[in-house]
Amino acid sequence: MCLADIQLLRYTWLLWLPVASSGNIKARHVVFPIMKVCRGGITSHFVRNDYLSLDMPIDSDVFRVPPGYNVPQQVHITQGDNEGKGVIISWITADEPGSSIVLYWAENSEFKSQAQGFYLTYKYFNYSSGYIHHCNVENLEFDTKYYYEVGIGNTTRQFWFKTPPQAGPDVPYTFGLIGDLGQTYNSNTTLTHYELSSAKGKTILYVGDLSYADDYPFHDNVRWDTWGRFIERIAAYQPWIWTAGNHEIDFAPELGESRPFKPYRSRYHVPYRASGSTSPLWYSIKRASAYIIVMSSYSAFGKYTPQYKWLEKELPKVNRTETPWLIVLMHSPIYNSYVNHYMEGEPVRAVYEKWFVEYKVDVVFAGHVHAYERSKRVSNIEYNIVNGLCRPTNNPSAPIYITIGDGGNLEGLATAMTEPQPSYSAFREASFGHGIFDIKNRSHAYFSWNRNQDGYAVEADSIWLRNRYWGSSEEASLAALR
Ligand SMILES: *[C@@H]1O[C@H](CO)[C@@H](O)[C@H](O)[C@H]1NC(C)=O
Ligand SMILES: *[C@@H]1O[C@H](CO)[C@@H](O)[C@H](O)[C@H]1NC(C)=O
Ligand SMILES: *[C@@H]1O[C@H](CO)[C@@H](O)[C@H](O)[C@H]1NC(C)=O
Ligand SMILES: *[C@@H]1O[C@H](CO)[C@@H](O)[C@H](O)[C@H]1NC(C)=O
Ligand SMILES: *[C@@H]1O[C@H](CO)[C@@H](O)[C@H](O)[C@H]1NC(C)=O
Ligand SMILES: [Fe+2]
Repeated sequence: MCLADIQLLRYTWLLWLPVASSGNIKARHVVFPIMKVCRGGITSHFVRNDYLSLDMPIDSDVFRVPPGYNVPQQVHITQGDNEGKGVIISWITADEPGSSIVLYWAENSEFKSQAQGFYLTYKYFNYSSGYIHHCNVENLEFDTKYYYEVGIGNTTRQFWFKTPPQAGPDVPYTFGLIGDLGQTYNSNTTLTHYELSSAKGKTILYVGDLSYADDYPFHDNVRWDTWGRFIERIAAYQPWIWTAGNHEIDFAPELGESRPFKPYRSRYHVPYRASGSTSPLWYSIKRASAYIIVMSSYSAFGKYTPQYKWLEKELPKVNRTETPWLIVLMHSPIYNSYVNHYMEGEPVRAVYEKWFVEYKVDVVFAGHVHAYERSKRVSNIEYNIVNGLCRPTNNPSAPIYITIGDGGNLEGLATAMTEPQPSYSAFREASFGHGIFDIKNRSHAYFSWNRNQDGYAVEADSIWLRNRYWGSSEEASLAALR
């Protein structure tokens, strides 16, 4: 039974939900959306008592290995170059290396091409990975549907993807936003809602914390494999743009594992070299009318560090005539009014916020906090040790900060909030869900947040964004007041 199907009618409700893991029927109490408006903005009290976030058992349908000897599994794709004509296709074979070749062809084309990839393996404590294949398919046509086949040899599987239109200022494009997904029943609801959404997201901007394998004994890397099979139903068909979170670090010297990000970097490749980056943990891509910058909250970021030097050169390169929408992804939020992870993003804010304002970043998406929050357009860049000014103030050049770490992992929701709601916080609610960033043209984009507990088409929060570069100043000041 899907939580989304439940019609909510009264303020308090006693729900009978079958718990699929045990087959039991359990009573649950649901508290209804009571909005509390304070000086800061809206705190939605749509919170469920006893709202468990249970892992799907290891023998669940979503984790099943497809049939066939050495069959490609955990198929996923991401953008493979800077401009959208390349795709990195990755998959795993368990029994033998097999082939790393991808066969691909454009829809309505007789001619099949092939690209040669490679494979790698890694060990983690007493776990040995399967053969992890990565193949970069390059020089595709823009705005074209391609079919592809992997596992040439014994057992083959076919999928498809669509390349984005060539970058341009008024190219409409729709991104999905998901973070901190994990592999619980709630994670499954999040993916299902995204799939069924009428918004029809074309690419997922993923804000970090993928499998949560490190929450299991000995960082059980089998949970990286189950997660890869779980997301395949979307990730094999549309690119997920990866950001590393703290659950990707897998730093465990007590297990003899002291190379940070080993499982993540082995499994999820990104086109970092195409943007002049020296690390897969920070990079950028252009896609349709958006320029997306991925940052690493868990790599050195202070002045003179590789990440700092890269971003310093990267921001002036963004051509807002070609890609008006400038989006930054990072795991740990800069503006967060939940108790959980409160102030963790402060060191990053101190270093980078002034650039976000100077270069008029439109929106910064983050995860980490297992809840949803949207900020007003604020900045806190006036501070110096002498003047003592240290309050976020409305700033029309500042980005909107959106925390969307509510994919549904086993750690559960972050329900405790700092009170009163700070003035920079426009809307906050501790529920699982996903976001949609729908670019209409160079001046307008529509962001909406979908709460899992509603029917999939319901928006619990939404806002029209005016582009920071193309929006008129009048629109900008109106937006600042929202
Ligand atoms: C790894 O070690 C743990 C702890 O000793 C054990 O429970 C687990 O079964 C081992 N896994 C493998 C694949 O050997
Ligand atoms: C899989 O294919 C390889 C190469 O084509 C072949 O050598 C091997 O015997 C096949 N394995 C099985 C189980 O069919
Ligand atoms: C996950 O969601 C899919 C699609 O709604 C459904 O077919 C599947 O049975 C669900 N699996 C579990 C374990 O809830
Ligand atoms: C920015 O992009 C536009 C549109 O693609 C192009 O005409 C212009 O030359 C670019 N500007 C620079 C400085 O590259
Ligand atoms: C951009 O899109 C918005 C929202 O759909 C629309 O109101 C506006 O007229 C569009 N602007 C242009 C120049 O087409
Ligand atoms: Fe996190």
